[in-house]
Amino acid sequence: MKPLLFALPGNEDFAGRLNTGLGAELGSLETRRFPDGETYVRLVSDVEGRSVVLVCTLDRPNDKTLPLLFTAHAARDLGASRIGLVAPYLGYMRQDKRFRPGEAITSSFYGRLLSSIVDWIVTVDPHLHRRTFMSEIYSVPAVVCHAAPKLSAWIREHVPTAFVIGPDVESEQWVSAVATDAGVPWLTLEKTRHGDRDVEIKFRDLERWRGQTPVLVDDIISSGRTMEVTLRHLSDLGFPASVCLGVHGLFAEDAFERLVAAGASCIVSTNTIPHKSSAMDVSDIVAKAMSPLLQ
Ligand code: R5P
Repeated sequence: MKPLLFALPGNEDFAGRLNTGLGAELGSLETRRFPDGETYVRLVSDVEGRSVVLVCTLDRPNDKTLPLLFTAHAARDLGASRIGLVAPYLGYMRQDKRFRPGEAITSSFYGRLLSSIVDWIVTVDPHLHRRTFMSEIYSVPAVVCHAAPKLSAWIREHVPTAFVIGPDVESEQWVSAVATDAGVPWLTLEKTRHGDRDVEIKFRDLERWRGQTPVLVDDIISSGRTMEVTLRHLSDLGFPASVCLGVHGLFAEDAFERLVAAGASCIVSTNTIPHKSSAMDVSDIVAKAMSPLLQ
């Protein structure tokens, strides 16, 4: 029997693309909110004895996690033989350490929570911060896909005169791979974060790149401050309008508009989080990574 893919609300497009790539079957899921805000879930398709895949990107995870837990629990309860989670973006990765006394280490608890309801996870470029492997956080197999080839291809096609700028030294390996594959030069900056929306960036001499188009790349665009500070600096130096490229376009609050106001000529992200900037499709990479887990 073919695996049954269920799209949690907002994930219909990504699930449809996965379904096409995998030749699976799309399941029907009914969810709604009761007037008091509680969640109603009904698996319309019969899951008994079936391998089930839940597609649920986990940006803004507070609103999405409970419906996901209820759906996974219902699938198990109704006899699904195996349950996988495709979370193109995986939230709650940042707080993996107690920086100040009394802080909750949400990353490991969230990992335990998701690991308790599904048999495997596939995600794209999780921001591992101080961890090296997903297995340090997730107890079920958690497969990581990489969007770098999509960013390289986009740069190659759209900005052949690019020089790629990464936000910090930690991003060096990833940024250099993206740029090298695109056949363009690269550099990284030195970023210090003082607060959620307060970043300081040390710039080096950029004169040698004059005449080329700056392409700012990052794995996450959240508050947008990292790119906004960089855009303003480049604009002050008289560089041509810059391109912003991110894997996960979270765009908290008015981040997208602030990037436009700061001089971005074009802002592009992958479709791990549906957004008007999602012009790079990573569903084929995810489908490939999922295949062995569906055998
Ligand atoms: C940090 O380690 C990440 O690579 C990004 O640079 C960061 O998450 C971007 O955040 P923001 O858009 O809030 O500056």
